[in-house]
Amino acid sequence: MRKLALIHGPNLNFLGIRNKEVYGQDTFESINQEIGKEALEYNFDLEIFQSNHEGEIIDFLQSCYGRVDGIIINPGAFTHYSYAIRDAIESISIPTIEVHLSNINNREEFRKTSFIAPVCIGQICGFGKYSYILGIKALDDYLQNIKHS
Ligand code: DQA
Repeated sequence: MRKLALIHGPNLNFLGIRNKEVYGQDTFESINQEIGKEALEYNFDLEIFQSNHEGEIIDFLQSCYGRVDGIIINPGAFTHYSYAIRDAIESISIPTIEVHLSNINNREEFRKTSFIAPVCIGQICGFGKYSYILGIKALDDYLQNIKHS
């Protein structure tokens, strides 16, 4: 079975509590459950990691090296300023998709910049929890196509 790592950055453990108008009512646990079901449908063995700390996210990314087939990451606010997370993703050379619940392009100016997107195979944003589901589908398709090409 292919191994998929899902990484949630800072404050995402507060989903269902924080800014419900922007991020929705669903809790962190219920979103993870839905993602888990979808991952299984697509034959992924899912490992979920959340941290509010940049270094812990980097340690986890490094731990994925050589053992994980794909990564879906919502780096939260680190998206907009973490060169270190960017470099970690580049270093491990694992197909990675950046996802966001909100549309980072139609909010505050600082959210329009992602330092992470250039080292990812793609970015999905603006579809709430479905951004993660779309990420799983996209990763599945990507992995099948690189295998067959
Ligand atoms: C977010 C968007 C970020 O700008 C913000 O800092 C978050 C959540 C999203 O999923 O929409 O924490 O990554």
